[in-house]
Formats: sequence, structure tokens, C-alpha cells
Amino acid sequence: MATAATSTLPELDPARLADWRAGGGQLVDLLTSAQQLGPVAGFRLGERRIVLVTGAEQVQHVLARHPDSYVKHGHRAKALLGDGLLCASGEPWRRQRKVLQPQFTGRGIRAHEPQIRAAVAATAERWHAAARAGEVREIDADLRRFSLEAIWRSLTAHPLDRATHHRLITAGDSLAQIPAFAAATGERAADFGEANELADLAAAHAIALAGQTEEPALLRALLRAAAELPDYTERLVRDELMTLVVAGYETTATTLSWLFLLLDAHPEQREWALAAGPAGSGARAAAIRALIDETLRLYPVAWLMPRQAAEADTLAGHPIEAGTTLLVSPYLTHRDPALWPDPGAFRPQRFLDAERRPAPGAYYPFGLGPRACLGAQFAVREMTLLLEELLPAYRAEIRDAPAGAGFAITVHPAGPVRAVLHAE
Ligand code: HEM
Repeated sequence: MATAATSTLPELDPARLADWRAGGGQLVDLLTSAQQLGPVAGFRLGERRIVLVTGAEQVQHVLARHPDSYVKHGHRAKALLGDGLLCASGEPWRRQRKVLQPQFTGRGIRAHEPQIRAAVAATAERWHAAARAGEVREIDADLRRFSLEAIWRSLTAHPLDRATHHRLITAGDSLAQIPAFAAATGERAADFGEANELADLAAAHAIALAGQTEEPALLRALLRAAAELPDYTERLVRDELMTLVVAGYETTATTLSWLFLLLDAHPEQREWALAAGPAGSGARAAAIRALIDETLRLYPVAWLMPRQAAEADTLAGHPIEAGTTLLVSPYLTHRDPALWPDPGAFRPQRFLDAERRPAPGAYYPFGLGPRACLGAQFAVREMTLLLEELLPAYRAEIRDAPAGAGFAITVHPAGPVRAVLHAE
């Protein structure tokens, strides 16, 4: 695969690294400096060289064209998610993906849509009551509850009860403690003892519920696999279940929180989406999709994807040694002015301009290639259904907006998202 390397990799000046350490800046600040050096750039942590990949062509090379040469290695969430799809690799990953894939195609998702709609209706009811009361509400908590309920209902065909809600949110919170890249920031990994106990309880409950229903329930596909395939142990069903819950809810909820924050700062974009066409029209749906796409451009929640080079290669003419750690960052690619005009602006309309489709590798909030997000269509569908209901009915006026973004395993608002909901 490798073509001849022609030049050494540009590297951050060690003095810049020392300044960053001394200044206590966020990892993203360091990576932004590295991005200035080129589409592929390095920095050293002791003896270890880390390579940042942000160029569209190189992102494609690593994620889409050579996924077997750039592999996932020791996933950060493995202590909670075990051998579930997100953390699995090699042949087991291939088999597991095959079992789950049909549930996440257009047809698979349509089967779960009544469950997603029930989660939408419950959220709309909560907002209706909050708007009448005129209270200041933590809408990020509402959005988390919505996405958790959507996935839980799809998995089990049952509503989310209070005790399970609490267990899953507490278990999921432990993942939020995971540093983006502990090797650089020196942070300690979270302790998953309690989170695992709560996850085990929730999983046992989900399995019992899915066994009691005749309705389509995603978990039943896993239980069928468990009955037919020797590798599908009880433990794997639990890991896969937790993977779908955890990979599925915080990502979607955080994207929705960013979207409401952005619409508060740009109220004209809400007006534009609603004016695009009447409720239920294709034009309205396309405008809402553009709001989602543009939110995910500015804030691709999975902002950093680590990979390890399984063999020596050449990237952008620079040699990459086997064993090198690479960091692929959609957050930085999506803000590259060479790829995106006026990258800091919130302009959903750019996604409707057929003339200016993003270059391959320039836009990848759901990853690229065979390890791309399994739940991408599910996520877009649930967000669209919720927004079709809430956007015309309420304007969320943000109070005490969080000061910027936090960069851990996800890029998230740096504090609670509070709002007063105005019925319209
Ligand atoms: C806005 C919402 C979401 C975003 C931005 C997102 C993003 C991503 C990204 C970037 C990856 C690839 C990570 C990598 O290559 O290192 C991924 C993988 C994954 N996502 Fe999502 N995700 C979202 C929602 C969901 C939902 C709703 C589900 C399931 C219900 C889900 C399930 C998964 C799974 C199982 C994987 C691992 C796939 C594999 O390795 O084969 N995600 N996601």
C-alpha cells in the first residue's frame, strides 16, 4: 500500500508543547496548533510520536481506504462496554456488525419508529408543561432523557422506567469522565466499578422485557443470535446492549443540545427552517436535516478518533512507522478554512447547495469506512422526528449559556443548558 516517503513529518516545536502544558490549555488547543503545520502533523510525548490527521485526502486514506492498516486499539470505553461492537476488532467485530446491521438500515429503523415517536410524544408533553409553568429548565437533561428513551424503547419495546433511567444515566456519566486522550493530558481513567454494576442491572431488566414482547424489539435480534451462534455469550449480549445505549444516547442528546444553543444565537435559522415548507413537507424536512448537518459540522460529538498504524505506511508523503498512534479529528477537519468557507459561521444552507458538496473526507461526523457509526441513520431519524415536533411549537430561550465547549471523549457544552420554553 505504501508509496515512497519523501519528507519527514512536520512536528510541533517542543517549546510550544511545554507552553501548552504550563498554560493548562485544552487538548484541542494543542491539536489546533499542530493542524497549522499541515494535513498530517506530529508532536512528541516523551519517546512517543503522535500523528494528527485532519486533511480530507488523508482522513479517507486512514478511515475508509485502509481500515485494516489503521486499527482501533484498546478503546477508551472498553472498561464499561467490554467486547461490544464499538470496542471489538478483527473477525469478532465483523460477525457482530453483521448481526446488528439489518436493525439499522432504513427498513430496520422503520420497524422501531413507533417507539421513537412515543419518546418524542413524552418529551413534547414535558415541554408543554414546562412552557405553561414558565420555568427555567435544564433542556440538556430533557434531551438526554429523550434519546435514552428512544433507544431503550427500540431495544425492548417498553417505556423507560424511572429506576432504569437513573441507572443508565449514572453508568453513562462515568464515560463522560474519560479524557479525550489521556496520554497527552495525564488524566486518570475513570473507575467503572459502580457503573458496571448499574449496567448489569439495566441489561438484565432489558433482556427480561424483550423476552415478553411480540413487537419488534432490537434486543430480540441479539437474543436470536445468542441462541444460534456459539460466540454470542450472555456477556456479549450485555456488552452489545450497553454499547448501543451508550454510543446511542449521549451522542444524540449532545448534538441536540448544541443545536438548541446554536438556534438561540441564530434565531433567523429557526425561522428559515420553519418557512422552508409546511409541517410534513419535504422542504421542511430538508431544512431540518441541514440544521442537523451544520450542527454536526461545528460540533461533531465524537471529535477525536484514535487509531494505531498496524504497519509502516506513507501519509501525505511522510513516513508513518508501525505502532504509531494517530488521532483523526472531524472537529478540526470541519473547521479547516481550506475545505469550508467561513468555517466558524453557522450556515445550514451550505448543505443544500448541490454545487458545493463537501469534498470526500471533508465531512465525517459519523466516521468513515467500515467502522463508521452503525446508528447514523437512526440518530438522524430520531433527531428529525423530535425537531419536527418541537421546533414549530417552542422557542427555547437559553439562560446563562455555558461558556464554550468541553473536550473529553465528546465535545459537549461546558455546563448545563438552561432555557425558558416559549410556546408559539
Ligand atoms: C449524533 C449522533 C451520533 C454520532 C455523532 C455518532 C458518531 C459515531 C462515530 C464518529 C463513530 C465511529 C468511531 C470511530 O471510528 O472511532 C461511531 C460508531 C458507532 N456508533 Fe455512533 N454516533 C451517533 C449515534 C449513534 C446511535 C444512535 C447509535 C446506536 C443506536 C450508535 C452506535 C454506534 C456504534 C455501535 C458504533 C461502533 C461501530 C463499529 O465500530 O462498527 N451511534 N459513532
